[in-house]
Amino acid sequence: MRAVAVECFGVDNVSVADRPDPTPGEGEVVIATEAATINPADFGLVTGAAASRLPWGAAAPYTPGWDLVGRVVDCGLGVDRSVVGRRVLGFTRLFDTLRGTQASLVALPVGSVVEAGDGLPSTQLTTVGLNGLTAWRGLADLKLAEGETLVVTGAAGGVGGFAVELASSRGFEVIAVVRGDEKQDVLGLGAAATVSADDAELGTAVRAVVPGGADALLDTASIAAASLAAVRDRGKYATTTVLPAPERGIDVVKSEVRLDAEALTTLVEMATSGRLHTPVVKTFEVEDVQAAYKAFAERTGRGRIVLKFPAD
Ligand SMILES: NC(=O)c1ccc[n+]([C@@H]2O[C@H](COP(=O)([O-])OP(=O)(O)OC[C@H]3O[C@@H](n4cnc5c(N)ncnc54)[C@H](OP(=O)(O)O)[C@@H]3O)[C@@H](O)[C@H]2O)c1
Repeated sequence: MRAVAVECFGVDNVSVADRPDPTPGEGEVVIATEAATINPADFGLVTGAAASRLPWGAAAPYTPGWDLVGRVVDCGLGVDRSVVGRRVLGFTRLFDTLRGTQASLVALPVGSVVEAGDGLPSTQLTTVGLNGLTAWRGLADLKLAEGETLVVTGAAGGVGGFAVELASSRGFEVIAVVRGDEKQDVLGLGAAATVSADDAELGTAVRAVVPGGADALLDTASIAAASLAAVRDRGKYATTTVLPAPERGIDVVKSEVRLDAEALTTLVEMATSGRLHTPVVKTFEVEDVQAAYKAFAERTGRGRIVLKFPAD
C-alpha cells in the first residue's frame, strides 16, 4: 500500500512510501481509502510542532490523518463479513492509535466506522470526520440549555463552522467570531450575528450584541483569555485549544474529540441531506502530498484540503 510518511519533521520531508498492506486484527476492518482530510494536528505532526503529543516510544515513520472515506475490503475475526464492500466514514484518534488515515489501506476497529451511503463525494464527506466530531464534542461539553446564547470563535474554520451549523440547527442563537471577510459565510451557516476577531476588545464587541455577555463560548481559534471576557458571570466556556485560567465563576473545560459512532452517523446524514456544508478548498492526489501540506500552510477562508487516493 501507499502511505504518507513522516520520517523527518518538516514539510519539505513529507513523502509517500510503500508499506506492507495491513491485515485486520480481531474486530477490525481494512478500508481502501478514497479521501482523507489534512488538519492542523496533521500539519503539527509533519512539522514536528505536535511531536510532544505522540505516544511514548512511538517511532518514525508516522502516517498522519484522523478521518477517511473509503470501502471496506477485508475484516478480521468477530466482524460480520457483510461489511465487506460497504462505503464507510472512519475516525481515529491519531495520537492514541497511530493508525493514520492518509494511507491507501487502513485497518480500524469496526466500531470506528459508520455507513457513508452514496450521497456525497468522498472528498466532501470526510470533512465531517475529525472536524464534525470535534464540534459535536465541544457542544456536548458546554451542556447548552434551551434558549442559551453561544459564541463560536474561529467560526469560519473547520471545527468552528460545524459548531455554528450544529448549534444553529438545534435552535441556539450563535454569535460567530471571524476575522477577515468571512461574515457572509458564517451567516450562511445559521449564525444570528457576527463579531470581528480583529476588534481589540472581543468581550466588549460580543456584549454589544448580547448585553451582559453570552451564556457559553466555544473557542476554536486559541483566543483563550481574551475570549473569556465575552462570557457572562457563571457562564460556560469550552476550548479545543488553549485553556485560559477560569474567572468570575465561569465553568472552563478543555474539549477533546472522541469516537462517537452515533454522532458520526448523524453527521453523515446531515451532510448528505445538505444540512451541513462540507467545503473543500482543494484536493490533491496523495502522490502530491508535499504540495498539499504546503497549500495547507497557506490556506485562507473556510474549507479543508483533502487528499485523494486512486481507486484500484
Ligand atoms: N481538542 C481536540 O480534540 C481538537 C480536535 C480538532 C482540532 N483541534 C484544534 O482546534 C483548532 C481549530 O481547528 P480547525 O481544524 O477548525 O482549524 P482551522 O480550520 O484552521 O480554523 C481555525 C479558525 O480560527 C481562526 N483563527 C485562528 N487564529 C485566530 C485568532 N487569533 N483570532 C481570530 N481567529 C483566529 C482561523 O482564521 P484564519 O483562517 O484567518 O487563520 C480559522 O478560521 C486547532 O488548534 C486544532 O488543532 C482540537
